[in-house]
Amino acid sequence: MAELPEASGLPGKPTAASRTTLSHIMTQNDVNLLGTVHGGVIMKLVDDAAGAVAGRHSGGPAVTASMDEMVFLEPVKVGDLVHVHAQVNWTGRTSMEIGVKVLAERWNESTPATRVGTAYLVFAAVDEEGKPRPVPPVVPSDDRDRRRYQEAEIRRTHRLARRREILESRQRPL
Ligand SMILES: CC(C)(COP(=O)(O)OP(=O)(O)OC[C@H]1O[C@@H](n2cnc3c(N)ncnc32)[C@H](O)[C@@H]1OP(=O)(O)O)[C@@H](O)C(=O)NCCC(=O)NCCS
Repeated sequence: MAELPEASGLPGKPTAASRTTLSHIMTQNDVNLLGTVHGGVIMKLVDDAAGAVAGRHSGGPAVTASMDEMVFLEPVKVGDLVHVHAQVNWTGRTSMEIGVKVLAERWNESTPATRVGTAYLVFAAVDEEGKPRPVPPVVPSDDRDRRRYQEAEIRRTHRLARRREILESRQRPL
């Protein structure tokens, strides 16, 4: 059973209110030595889109606390128009999980876009001193958002358990 987030006490905000898409055409400046787009270029776009969502949802500054499950499914090429879709999947008291889906399509063709990557990031909302501040609870808009919320809770439980287990193992002699 996933651990329930501590309530922030703020009114809820629907997922749809902060959902965002960032689009970018890949150029020669974005390639690695193999000639395909560098993973770091995609990760920057993912972080940018997720940061915009976190800022919109929380109504102020938010910082990346972690990025996990960044999966690259297909290579991205020069001339691809990349769309990065991001939304709040889950909220805790001061943190939010942002789910990101990356699609690519040829910039000058009307062929369907291909999913090239996915990622989950945790952002913490912060005040002027960089200290965590409460975030509005996200209100899933439909069944798909409710499923994403449930799955985000599972990831949160695993992240906390892993961190706890590692900290405990450091207390034990080698
Ligand atoms: C993220 C940060 C604000 C957390 O501060 P902290 O003093 O550890 O505060 P807390 O332990 O109360 O954590 C705040 C929230 O973030 C979550 N969090 C912190 N570290 C996390 C991690 N590694 N993974 C997932 N969630 C994390 C906590 O669970 C908590 O969420 P909750 O309130 O919803 O339960 C702080 O570590 C920081 O400023 N990090 C640098 C962020 C940054 O600069 N990012 C850009 C990289 S260049």
